Amino acid sequence: MSNISIIGTGYVGLSAAVCFASRGYQVIASTRSADKITQIRAQKAPFYEPALERMLSQTVESGSLKVVSDRAEAILRSDMTFISVATPNHADGSINLTYVNEACEEVGDALCDKKGYHLVVVKSTVVPGTTHAVLRPILEHAANKTAGDGFGLCVNPEFLRQGSSVHDTLHPDRVVIGEYDARSGKQLHELYDDFYSGAVPIMRMSLASAEMVKYASNSFLAMKVSYANEIAGVCERVPGVDITEVMDGVGVDPRINRKFLNAGPGFGGSCFPKDVSALMRFAESRGCTTSLLRAVLDVNTAQALHVAEQALTALGTVSGKRVALLGLAFKPQTDDTREAPALKIARKLMDAGADVCAYDPVVVKADVPGFGTLHSTRSIDECLRDADCCIIVTEWDQFKALTPGDFTRQMAAPVVIDARRIFDPVTFRSKLTYIAVGLYAPESTPRMTHTLLS
Ligand code: UGA
Repeated sequence: MSNISIIGTGYVGLSAAVCFASRGYQVIASTRSADKITQIRAQKAPFYEPALERMLSQTVESGSLKVVSDRAEAILRSDMTFISVATPNHADGSINLTYVNEACEEVGDALCDKKGYHLVVVKSTVVPGTTHAVLRPILEHAANKTAGDGFGLCVNPEFLRQGSSVHDTLHPDRVVIGEYDARSGKQLHELYDDFYSGAVPIMRMSLASAEMVKYASNSFLAMKVSYANEIAGVCERVPGVDITEVMDGVGVDPRINRKFLNAGPGFGGSCFPKDVSALMRFAESRGCTTSLLRAVLDVNTAQALHVAEQALTALGTVSGKRVALLGLAFKPQTDDTREAPALKIARKLMDAGADVCAYDPVVVKADVPGFGTLHSTRSIDECLRDADCCIIVTEWDQFKALTPGDFTRQMAAPVVIDARRIFDPVTFRSKLTYIAVGLYAPESTPRMTHTLLS
């Protein structure tokens, strides 16, 4: 059984680390953050991910998972190294390779001192061609060895979702391996065959194809969300049409499928916005037009603002009015607010003069930079109290259980904007003013202009 080192302890790195360790591999994770080391050694996940914390606790306790700050130590004590550091974007949306370049430099330095073959696996998301043209030369130079001879090299994109990172790591639809050469690919293939007992399809391809699979997958999923949101906008202008019914009807076709067709306030998080932008910039740098990717992002930007507009229209005069946001995280089961629609909605409402408060079951205000005047509350009731409008922004289970009475009891004016379509329109409309993404709202929707008749 191979000993594994993992550089980076974000969602991807730490999930891989605990999952390998839970199945008996000896894993050494490395991070530069002293805080994270303290937390992990104390069996605490550095971010909200409940299943991960449980497994972290077991694997640290059993000694199969260790965390160190010294990357070289992690590399020298293992047979293969997964590089799983962040690849954020530059201000123009293009990929920033600083951390992954640094990691390769350090892996190469350590390999220079190591006798014998070592497999390097790039798990970080990098634009096609990066591993071969940028990372391989860094590794070769620092290690003073050649890829395919002194060390093996693979790309292994990750498809886990935040909030279900352990489940997704243990039960993926597929494992994609990009290989520099057959020997590298075979070694990683054998690891995953052993890890999944042969139950998961393993696809082997070139390094660059594997890199592209990641971007193409995230772009497609983001496109489905923007498509649903665009159709939702049309539905809002037609009496009797409901986006949820429409997407149920559309999604039953196996060529389309129902997943990622829930209209809402737009996609957020650390992946879709970043990866679609990076692919777009990468394509442009190759002289390629990416009108579809541009549209995916444009629709997404407009969607969060549209939800804020629904609130502004419903409120009439905004000044002095209180708007309650239920949900701050970009999706349930995470405390991540990166690119969260809630923050875009809050910003627009606050700029218009509204008094905005928010409740999220796990996000604490200190984690939301730049939102000094956003009141965060400690309970749903406190958030709803005296509010003139409530927007459901994240579909946490706690919110799904709310009844119309929960709103009418607390709010000054019971106007609910269901941006996640978690409530039954008939029940809610019978008790309060209910406005929803993808549902006709006569009083707040501009009349259609009948150009054919005029
Ligand atoms: C996404 C991908 O789903 C993962 O496969 C990928 O590994 C990950 O990015 C990554 O690149 O690391 P994640 O961002 O964690 O995962 O979350 P998703 O569940 O995909 O949701 C992304 C956003 O789309 C959320 O804001 C969510 O609310 C929104 N969404 C999703 C919708 O608005 N409607 C839907 O029907 C589905």
